[in-house]
Amino acid sequence: MAELTCVGCGPGDPELLTVKAVKAIQNADVIMCPTSKEGKDSIAYSIVSSLVDPSKKPEVVNLVFPMVKDKDILEDTWEKNAQIIAEAVRKDKNVVYLTVGDPSLYSTWIYVNRELKIKYPDIKITIIPGIVSMFAFASKVGISIAEGDETMAVIPACYDLARVKETAKNCDTMIFLKDGRYFDQVISLLKEAGFPNSSLFAIAQDVGTDQEIVKKLTLGEVTKDTFTNKYFSIMVVKRA
Ligand SMILES: C[S@@+](CC[C@H](N)C(=O)[O-])C[C@H]1O[C@@H](n2cnc3c(N)ncnc32)[C@H](O)[C@@H]1O
Repeated sequence: MAELTCVGCGPGDPELLTVKAVKAIQNADVIMCPTSKEGKDSIAYSIVSSLVDPSKKPEVVNLVFPMVKDKDILEDTWEKNAQIIAEAVRKDKNVVYLTVGDPSLYSTWIYVNRELKIKYPDIKITIIPGIVSMFAFASKVGISIAEGDETMAVIPACYDLARVKETAKNCDTMIFLKDGRYFDQVISLLKEAGFPNSSLFAIAQDVGTDQEIVKKLTLGEVTKDTFTNKYFSIMVVKRA
């Protein structure tokens, strides 16, 4: 039987993929691409499209994962998409599943992988890691994420803001991923949690694309105009 390979596609620049990832993409018969809406282009596919071997003509399949919190809808989606993937692998095709950044960090892959392992345990799965967006960002801005005895937390800002505040009280570097619309509320929380105005503040949106926005300032300098509401946003605040 052919294999299923999950490929971490990195933060957006096609040159930031591993050699293994490129080989897997060029060897694929079928490329599975997650997208949030029917008819919407897959961001992961847009990262790797220039690397696909045109002579191989792989089949490109968009898998829709709606951005909702309803557990029934999500479970149904994971089940359906895992089935589509499993059927392709069982046709003896080399199937590649793409994911932005690394597969093990807030990726739809995690749920699909779980579903496949339970329902299709015979399928051999290989996971190729990718460069995580926050590390691509740290290189771009020229900051260290953590040094010496500093602690760091990675927070999906769109969930529980009370938990964010509790975490901030005990942490030196706070990294916020996901929905940038909550970032302004987070700024006040950090100040309440004892982050001084002189703390380093850095934000990046759409890293690795031609829409990229990257800013580095202090927490005290942040205003409501510092960032816009974009889903592909990373914010790092490092206690002074
Ligand atoms: C569903 S999570 C996926 C994280 C991904 N697996 C990783 O390793 O970076 C999506 C979030 O990652 C961050 N992200 C991923 N790629 C990004 C990029 N190119 N620019 C800015 N943020 C990015 C944003 O916070 C975005 O909302």
